[in-house]
Amino acid sequence: MAKTVAVIPGDGIGPEVIDAALDVLDALDLDIDYLHASAGLACYQREGAYLPEATLTAVRAADAVLFGAITSPLDVKDYTSVILALRQELDAYANVRPARDYGQPCKAPGLDIVLVRENTEGMYNALEVEDADGVTTMRRITRRGSQRITRFALELAKKQKRSRVTCLHKANVLRKSDALFRRVFYEEAHALHVERDASLAAVGKPLRGASSQTPLPKADDMLLDNAALQLVLNPQRFDVLVTMNLYGDVLSDEIAGLVGGLGFAPSGSYGPRAALFEPVHGSAPDIAGKEVANPTGAILSAAMMLEYLGEAKEARRVEAAVRAALAEGRTSDAGGELGTSEFTALVVRAL
Ligand code: NAD
Ligand code: IPM
Ligand code: MN
Repeated sequence: MAKTVAVIPGDGIGPEVIDAALDVLDALDLDIDYLHASAGLACYQREGAYLPEATLTAVRAADAVLFGAITSPLDVKDYTSVILALRQELDAYANVRPARDYGQPCKAPGLDIVLVRENTEGMYNALEVEDADGVTTMRRITRRGSQRITRFALELAKKQKRSRVTCLHKANVLRKSDALFRRVFYEEAHALHVERDASLAAVGKPLRGASSQTPLPKADDMLLDNAALQLVLNPQRFDVLVTMNLYGDVLSDEIAGLVGGLGFAPSGSYGPRAALFEPVHGSAPDIAGKEVANPTGAILSAAMMLEYLGEAKEARRVEAAVRAALAEGRTSDAGGELGTSEFTALVVRAL
């Protein structure tokens, strides 16, 4: 039976990279019905709503959503983020952000790590209360939220035969909330027969090559600030990372930087009924309309979507085509001279 995908290109470079992803999907033999929908700032200027009811209807009817990027206006006081509303709508609690070397210029050659970010609570549905002197932000971390995201990360590590899952937190300061997240992580690891392992301590040795011989991943944890440092100094120490919402947002841009920048970073946000796929980057107003955006993050997000829709073989073909295209040419963010559609054409040709 045909799957249904709602496509929301959004603002800035969103439509440019989504067009590229759709060109790649069109080159495959797939049984997908597309529902084209709009959201974001340009949509507001055109239709008077950031997230029209018709778009929500399309999202509710879809098996998956392919999303570009939106511009968040900072000077509109009562603006509620479109992308956060969509993640909440789908209860898409597990945000998976892989950083992988596909042959692009990488600060960490050969890297293949996955960040799993809690996507529905924490700082992102915080209660903010203003008074005369400032604002109090109340962040909520729940046992259920911590359970489902840490279990998701541990199960992903098992399924992908990865070596290690590292929980990142600031339990040294946030001694109740982050401590709860860390405690639940080890409870879930124990329930899934994943052993706790402190052998790498705070830094440790590279994990390269360990995956194939290790039947089960190991579990460990690290303070967030040290993790931000270790990701720069010794990224191969990590394999799967699991963390809370805001921490994961910040670190996902950092890990994108390890593999050539935001243009190479895909993501998927998984909920109980459907999932949403989007590049990690935003609407990039500085390069919008110039035909220079790197579409790789959007194309690899489409590959993650194919895997989710049961088309794993096609997903692998898209990844291989990206690898082949990168061996031939690159967009300017990766030191090349190709425009968005020229690079996309290379991927399509490789398919
Ligand atoms: P950004 O990710 O849009 O851009 C950061 C930098 O990376 C810019 O220099 C940009 O040119 C570059 N870049 C990003 N994607 C690229 C690509 N595909 N190819 C080449 N270069 C690329 O972040 P920002 O500038 O901080 O935010 C711009 C707007 O996007 C803001 O309104 C922000 O809120 C929004 N945003 C939206 C999403 C989303 O919709 N999911 C995500 C992040 C930011
Ligand atoms: C991301 C973005 C979003 C986030 C913004 C646009 C709300 O930065 O997807 O990483 O903070 O989650
Ligand atoms: Mn972000």
